[in-house]
Amino acid sequence: FAFASYYSSGMVLQRSPRRASIWGYAPLGTVGQAVKLTVSSANSTASFEAKVSIGVWRVQLKEMPGSLTSYVITASLASRPSIKISDVLFGDVWLCSGQSNMVFKVGQIFNKTMEYELASHFPYIRLTLVSTVQSNVTLYDIQRYDMKWAKPSKIQNFHSTETVENFSAVCWLYARHIFSEIKVPMGMITSAWGGTPVESWSSPESLSSCGLRSKLTGVDSPPHVNYVLYNAMIHPFLNMTIYGALWYQGEANANLNRDLYNCTFPAMIDDWRTKWNEGTFALTDPTFPFGFVQLGPNTNTSYVPGFSDIRWHQTADIGTVPNNRLKNVFMATAVDLTDLNSPYYPVHYRDKETVGERLALSGLAVAYGRKDVKFQGPLPTDAVIDKTKLQIQIIYDNNQTPLLKIKSSLGFELCCKASKENPCAMSGDEWTATPVAGFNSTAVTLNASACANKFLLGARYIWRETPCFYKKCPVYSVKNDLPAPPFFYLGDMDGFTGERGKTVVHFSN
Ligand SMILES: *[C@@H]1O[C@H](CO)[C@@H](O)[C@H](O)[C@H]1NC(C)=O
Ligand SMILES: *[C@@H]1O[C@H](CO)[C@@H](O)[C@H](O)[C@H]1NC(C)=O
Ligand SMILES: *[C@@H]1O[C@H](CO)[C@@H](O)[C@H](O)[C@H]1NC(C)=O
Ligand SMILES: *[C@@H]1O[C@H](CO)[C@@H](O)[C@H](O)[C@H]1NC(C)=O
Ligand SMILES: *[C@@H]1O[C@H](CO)[C@@H](O)[C@H](O)[C@H]1NC(C)=O
Ligand SMILES: *[C@@H]1O[C@H](CO)[C@@H](O)[C@H](O)[C@H]1NC(C)=O
Ligand SMILES: *[C@@H]1O[C@H](CO)[C@@H](O)[C@H](O)[C@H]1NC(C)=O
Ligand SMILES: *[C@@H]1O[C@H](CO)[C@@H](O)[C@H](O)[C@H]1NC(C)=O
Ligand SMILES: *[C@@H]1O[C@H](CO)[C@@H](O)[C@H](O)[C@H]1NC(C)=O
Repeated sequence: FAFASYYSSGMVLQRSPRRASIWGYAPLGTVGQAVKLTVSSANSTASFEAKVSIGVWRVQLKEMPGSLTSYVITASLASRPSIKISDVLFGDVWLCSGQSNMVFKVGQIFNKTMEYELASHFPYIRLTLVSTVQSNVTLYDIQRYDMKWAKPSKIQNFHSTETVENFSAVCWLYARHIFSEIKVPMGMITSAWGGTPVESWSSPESLSSCGLRSKLTGVDSPPHVNYVLYNAMIHPFLNMTIYGALWYQGEANANLNRDLYNCTFPAMIDDWRTKWNEGTFALTDPTFPFGFVQLGPNTNTSYVPGFSDIRWHQTADIGTVPNNRLKNVFMATAVDLTDLNSPYYPVHYRDKETVGERLALSGLAVAYGRKDVKFQGPLPTDAVIDKTKLQIQIIYDNNQTPLLKIKSSLGFELCCKASKENPCAMSGDEWTATPVAGFNSTAVTLNASACANKFLLGARYIWRETPCFYKKCPVYSVKNDLPAPPFFYLGDMDGFTGERGKTVVHFSN
């Protein structure tokens, strides 16, 4: 008679309006017997009961408001000794997954010492770090943990694993910023593995919806094998109510099924949501909030299309989230956090502080409904082609007032051709750099003199693996200093041929 592995002292269970689900194991010969569960704090006790089915029992709690009160949960079965977990909090449970930039530790970021100092001031954030395990079959419980429901504390605490040092920096920083705003316990579970593609984290149903049916061959470490991390590191959590998920992954797909990422990633989100809702018998929101980090920069030695394509595909080819395909999804743009001297390689840039802040801003707006929070960088809506001046005005609209500022002039490119027959490839090299010639609070004017007498067949923005120096891409919002995410548009934009005058193109992706 036992709780499932992740129900243990110090944990955070999901607060209202969702309801937590608790399950555990029961010995042979107890089918049909009653499991009694009590949830008590200093001034309240609630009781629940469920019947054992073969080998397991499951209790659904009532709605418990989020609070800083700690609870003791006791379960008993007939005459057996009761089992108990203590210091349980009700708050929001988030699962953090992905590859190395999600694994990237607090101990590796720029201001790690500051985080060590802050850690013990956040005893209502609890941290779980799942060990890396792969499996060919779906598992129902987690095999091993590096850390389980620890209270954050300083690195100096050698006698305990309660430290933020080895915990995911993005997951920790997100929690710290959100907690500071909502003041409700945060249960953060990191279940991530460096170097892994989205296929490893996806279920068979999810991959087959994108036409990927058979297993990739071979056993790898880190695994590049379909389903194996879904099986071992996600599936076991499907029976626990969560509030939402955070994701930092995509680098490993820059050269693996890259053109399918606009299917595999949205499909994985849908699938996780559906499966969590089923696994908790409808207690987890079937459209739970999902936040991700749009791929950051890398080295600056070559022009590789992979990262640009993946960034675009991460938004389901729309350019920003949430959108009609990716509802209740939010992101942090990281493309401008260039760190060519990172001792962990440039792809593991050290400024995760900014990522955590940007992700928490968008999480507050999308996952916590804070309408006052400005969380998106400037988004282009239209282009005005001025044939007389050989200029293009890119018009932005994202409800940010005052809107945009410019930090450098290079990053916009146009596809201009003498004939309309061969448009440019999304990540091809036939594009023409078009420098910023001026701007006001809602529009950027580009000098398109290099496209004189040509047709315009598309526009793109910061379409490079590493498009700019640290926080020096061209376009930012004034409020919150948020970068405009990469942008891509292919379509007839008229051009600098024929009669003089102006034409307007509406970007509808
Ligand atoms: C129980 O006590 C705690 C601590 O004294 C208090 O914060 C909380 O509001 C109380 N809860 C109820 C339901 O009375
Ligand atoms: C998964 O299956 C493959 C092929 O049958 C086998 O070679 C591999 O050892 C299995 N991996 C694990 C982690 O069990
Ligand atoms: C953090 O990880 C390193 C390397 O795995 C290990 O040596 C160290 O003991 C860990 N720190 C804590 C406090 O667990
Ligand atoms: C996904 O991207 C590929 C390659 O860029 C493109 O050909 C395809 O139409 C896109 N699919 C969807 C569903 O957007
Ligand atoms: C866990 O979820 C699976 C899949 O939905 C379900 O079949 C199983 O009954 C659940 N187990 C418990 C103990 O809730
Ligand atoms: C690190 O902390 C210093 C001092 O608070 C601050 O000025 C700097 O911006 C921080 N760096 C990052 C990357 O957050
Ligand atoms: C900014 O420039 C655009 C394009 O030239 C123009 O339509 C708009 O009125 C200008 N806005 C302001 C605030 O000057
Ligand atoms: C546009 O660029 C051309 C070529 O570099 C340059 O000669 C011209 O002065 C620029 N025009 C403006 C308005 O900046
Ligand atoms: C990347 O390399 C190009 C070409 O050498 C250079 O123009 C650009 O400034 C570099 N960018 C960064 C961020 O170092």
